[in-house]
Amino acid sequence: MDKVIIFDTTLRDGEQAAGGNLNVQEKLDIARQLEKLGVDVIEAGFPASSPGDFDAVRLIAREVRQPVICALARAHPHDIDRAWKAVKEAAHPRIHVFLSASDIHLSYQLRKTREEVLQTSREMVAKAKSYTEDIEFSPMDASRTEPSFIHQILEAVIDAGATTVNIPDTVGYALPIEFGGLIDSILESVPNIGRVVLSVHCHDDLGLAVANSLAAVRRGARQVECTINGIGERAGNASLEEIVMAIKTRRDLFNLDTAIDTRQIYNTSRLVSELTGFPVQPNKAIVGANAFRHESGIHQDGVIKMPITYEIINPKDVGIPASSLVLGKLSGRHAFRERLAELGYSLNEADFNRAFAAFKELADKKKSVTDRDIESLVAEEQRTVSELYHLDRVQVTCGDRGIPTAAVSLTGPGGQTLADAALGTGPVDAVYKAINRIVRVPNSLTEFSVKSVTQGIDAIGEVMIRIESEGITYSGRGADTDVIVASAKAYMNALNRLLASRAAEGRKDAA
Ligand code: KIV
Ligand code: ZN
Repeated sequence: MDKVIIFDTTLRDGEQAAGGNLNVQEKLDIARQLEKLGVDVIEAGFPASSPGDFDAVRLIAREVRQPVICALARAHPHDIDRAWKAVKEAAHPRIHVFLSASDIHLSYQLRKTREEVLQTSREMVAKAKSYTEDIEFSPMDASRTEPSFIHQILEAVIDAGATTVNIPDTVGYALPIEFGGLIDSILESVPNIGRVVLSVHCHDDLGLAVANSLAAVRRGARQVECTINGIGERAGNASLEEIVMAIKTRRDLFNLDTAIDTRQIYNTSRLVSELTGFPVQPNKAIVGANAFRHESGIHQDGVIKMPITYEIINPKDVGIPASSLVLGKLSGRHAFRERLAELGYSLNEADFNRAFAAFKELADKKKSVTDRDIESLVAEEQRTVSELYHLDRVQVTCGDRGIPTAAVSLTGPGGQTLADAALGTGPVDAVYKAINRIVRVPNSLTEFSVKSVTQGIDAIGEVMIRIESEGITYSGRGADTDVIVASAKAYMNALNRLLASRAAEGRKDAA
């Protein structure tokens, strides 16, 4: 069976999304999980864009050996040099060169002629080729470019040494019927196209990224660029999990395969959401909380009788375990360990002990502890591992009569106890002000959302926030059965990430 190459750009286009800001260690954690998932190519970053991106790409190239590790570069000698420097230690390095091709970009942004674009593309691919064999080229905004010019560029870059040519629908403008037609025209009109892999890269501005990618695959594209949970610039990129599961579920139509271990999809989605701070909407296909939940009585009746009546995918195939036992306060270490394993966690002894203690504490407050509760508490424990400041206590007084007041106590970088109190416009404001009096890092809160992890009055509340400092955004998450405590934890998480990133830059104001 023919294979579709899965090119994951979560760490490049995905991280480019407004508010996305991963540190080097988080990028490496995601890259390792992508390797487990079985992606063929990881686009690890854009090394010329910042020293942090360069470091992340170089580290991933050294540590993640199975997939191709790709670095993005503008069609500019300096970018290509930086990209090569970052990926040269990879087991399988790739340089991805891009240059705008549409008349809209050429006249309003680049101020170049088509002839100049053609020549630069050819020259920069040849330069990248002098470093390594595996070269990808993208004519940016291809879907708004005259097809005959795309054909001309592709022919030229293939002759210059490109091994993959990628067709981006940069602004998510195409419709499946015309994007499929563009792929047809390329296969018909570019004489040397048979020597390379034809790839597509679709954005979701009209909600058509997956549909366009699949239309292209049906016409002969054999690499798809996509991201976990569909995160990415503006409305995002084509979602990896949707592409892969569509190809697998409708094998009758595609007669194609991918190398993805689909049972790793759910874990990967959870990790990316946790680290980027982008929540997954409940109705998101494949990985949303409601994706396999049947509410209607008729549907429930059908699924009980025979799952295929209303389920086209077995949840186990994407790594969502069917809950076999409900845990409660009488559950012991063994049952908890087994449940963790079924959920895809393998914790070392110290992490396991901390998670078990948190589970016992939760089970005292909640009648039954669900899988979502366990995921939330393990994530909460992992968040606190590398903290500079740790939240010990938080206490608030609020209501419609008095002034909201908060007292907090933190453990500081040297292990000292630091306590302070503040008034606020509400309990969360008072808590954040009290924390600010101790940590003293100017920032502003730009996003705050709270949701319940499970149903019921005793559910865990999960708070997701973003703060901005010096023009950089940091996300934070916190979970607790008390939403004020969860809010305090989320703020500490964001502040600790901010301080860690300043410490990594060698700044003295980090501690
Ligand atoms: O959307 C786009 O055109 C891109 C290119 C760099 C491939 O992300
Ligand atoms: Zn893109």
